Amino acid sequence: MKQYLKEHEWSIIEEGFNPENHEISESIFSIGNGHMGQRANFEETYSGSSLQGSYMAGVYYPDKTRVGWWKNGYPEYFAKVLNSTNWIGLHIVIDGEDLDLYQAVVSDFVRELNMREGYLQRSFKAELRDGKQIRVEATRFISIVDKEIGAIKYAITPLNFDGTLEVTSYLDGDIKNEDANYDEKFWDPVHTTLSRDRASVIVKTKKLNFQYCSTMETHFYKNEKKLDLEGVGKEEVKYAGVTYNAPLVKSETTTIYKYAANVTNRDHDEQQLEKISAKELDKAVEKGFEQMKQEQASAWKEKWLYSDIVIEGDVAAQQGIRFNIYQLNQTYSGEDARLNIGPKGFTGEKYGGSTYWDTEAYCLPFYLATAEERIPRNLLIYRYNHLEKAKENARKLGFEKGALYPMVTMNGEESHNEWEITFEEIHRNGAIAYGIYNYVNYTGDKSYLGEYGIEVLAEISRFWEERVNFVPQKGVYMMLGVTGPNEYENNVHNNWYTNRIASWTLEYTLYVLDYLKDTDSENYQKWIDKLDLKEEEMKKWLDIIDKMYYPEDKELGVFLQQDNFLDKELLPVSDLDSKHLPLNQNWSWDRILRSCFIKQADVLQGLYFLNHEFDIETKKRNFDFYEPMTVHESSLSPCVHSILACELGYKEKAYEMYLRTARLDLDNYNNDTEDGCHTTSMAGTWMSVVQGFGGMKISNDQLVLNPFIPGQWASFSFKVLFRGARLMVRVDQEEVTVTNETDLSVDIVIHGEQMQLKGNENITVTH
Ligand code: BGC
Repeated sequence: MKQYLKEHEWSIIEEGFNPENHEISESIFSIGNGHMGQRANFEETYSGSSLQGSYMAGVYYPDKTRVGWWKNGYPEYFAKVLNSTNWIGLHIVIDGEDLDLYQAVVSDFVRELNMREGYLQRSFKAELRDGKQIRVEATRFISIVDKEIGAIKYAITPLNFDGTLEVTSYLDGDIKNEDANYDEKFWDPVHTTLSRDRASVIVKTKKLNFQYCSTMETHFYKNEKKLDLEGVGKEEVKYAGVTYNAPLVKSETTTIYKYAANVTNRDHDEQQLEKISAKELDKAVEKGFEQMKQEQASAWKEKWLYSDIVIEGDVAAQQGIRFNIYQLNQTYSGEDARLNIGPKGFTGEKYGGSTYWDTEAYCLPFYLATAEERIPRNLLIYRYNHLEKAKENARKLGFEKGALYPMVTMNGEESHNEWEITFEEIHRNGAIAYGIYNYVNYTGDKSYLGEYGIEVLAEISRFWEERVNFVPQKGVYMMLGVTGPNEYENNVHNNWYTNRIASWTLEYTLYVLDYLKDTDSENYQKWIDKLDLKEEEMKKWLDIIDKMYYPEDKELGVFLQQDNFLDKELLPVSDLDSKHLPLNQNWSWDRILRSCFIKQADVLQGLYFLNHEFDIETKKRNFDFYEPMTVHESSLSPCVHSILACELGYKEKAYEMYLRTARLDLDNYNNDTEDGCHTTSMAGTWMSVVQGFGGMKISNDQLVLNPFIPGQWASFSFKVLFRGARLMVRVDQEEVTVTNETDLSVDIVIHGEQMQLKGNENITVTH
């Protein structure tokens, strides 16, 4: 835990420079636009510890697998989002001395991430070795309007001297991934071009031939007047720089504008990359920095209009939730169905920028409620497009039919290589089916089922059909050798959650088939033929649904995480001396596996997903049993507990759990923010407010709200899009008001009372 950032409703602010916090700040102050992202590295040289990071969505490298002991079925590689050309670089030399904040005496340092308008700003005073002082103000953004453009404004003022300024504006494509398995560089040079003002660097990946072209242009101004400086080019392998010299006059500001266009052959013809980036750059230069910054502010205003959450009476909470929403919006914009959401977004390299079950289980609800339908739909299409690969994956593991979606993927192929997870954490398949249900239930867009959904559901169902085994002596189907969401138990038998989500998938698939049969018999027949789905197979699914075994203890009235859970020594976390926590840093893996301690929601994940199936008493008994044994060592854990605690009326617990997720990165709660932010868990924080405190659910095609407000807050409000209407829900200590900001009427249920909310009207209900 480290609290060094200033509280502010709309900005993240760091005052004073401490190199010890620099890498944490590099993660937190990251900027992006769904197409690319950039850690908050300094533009100028920095010789202290830093993780340089520029990432381009969808550009990845299959890094040869590195494992201790090879197991058949392991993937050959781990796909990693690539650290790519550094386009922000400005090498600043003042009277022959490099500007380097690790060497200079720094004062008045302020770094601000302006979330309302979408830019990063930094200002400081630096005293160089010979006492010369300068003041710098640097602003940069990655445009959410012109997706391939990044722009920088860098202003230098000498405070106590006249001298000379040498600036090399550069593109450096000779970049390494810190997490490379064999310490290799993944980029090869293609071509570099230099002219008086411009430079381009084209590099390509050693495998898969991703090509990446950056083109830059740099302008200099003094007192609003453009300087006509002669640039001198310098070309190296995968590098191009242009050096400019200008006199510095005491108290006069020299302003550098750097524009960069970053394009790849994922989006454009490979032969045209340089031309296209030059064209994009022309457009950016023509608009200029200030106009683009204004357009950025308007585009962010629109994003906030749909996704903001306002918390009154608690600035830290307000800042926390806005930071999460900001990061989610700049990580995934949903225009490109080939892209997804990595657990760290564009803020670091851990988890390889790949897709996990986090997307369906945690991120989908945020995009469902805050973005146009086509955006969450693209998250589903992403999996649809990977169906063939998921089938291949199942075959590779010896299954005759069905699809097993990978634990971790970039292109549909499995990247993960720990057998207990790769082969056994198969519940992820259920989350992908659940994502389809969640999308249809929320949007009402049933057309998805007949167009794409049913094929994915049927293939996942087939996997479950083959993965269970019938035990004749007991007359039940079981699922042996699995890892549930709680990764602190491996290779267990009959993980309740996995058995339940598997059986639920079969139920939902049969329901969807019935629905198609009733509503669109032609399409139904088309799918039956395409899938070669026989009556016999559907009967088998019914039999599995009927005879699935669920471990439970009737006396305790709880579902059992797995067959042998009660054989463990059951202790609450509160009995552990705090020196043992976090367990994953203090205990051997063996000790963790034998213990009762739970990493993240497991049985409770099932009660959250399939909430409508269980009565409140059942939820309460299970929550009371499992939560005290849960260490929440996955950032995905507290949100589910917070939501359930809200439903159960455990107000303090709900708020305690919420606090663990809301400022996870801002306060470096898990001591690992320097690796990148916990982007997917940020969606969980959003869920804690909207589904937890707001009590929002969709039931029978209606929006249900059951809000309660933590005592610490004066009010909170959130926006959701629901079936074409945009609603603003405001909750204070006395009442809840729902305002319909559109013309469409919607049916809603507030605190159990059913009502119709007409267009542009509002309804208030007292708690
Ligand atoms: C969690 C998984 C999650 C992964 C990526 C792990 O620590 O246990 O559930 O998918 O992190 O966020």
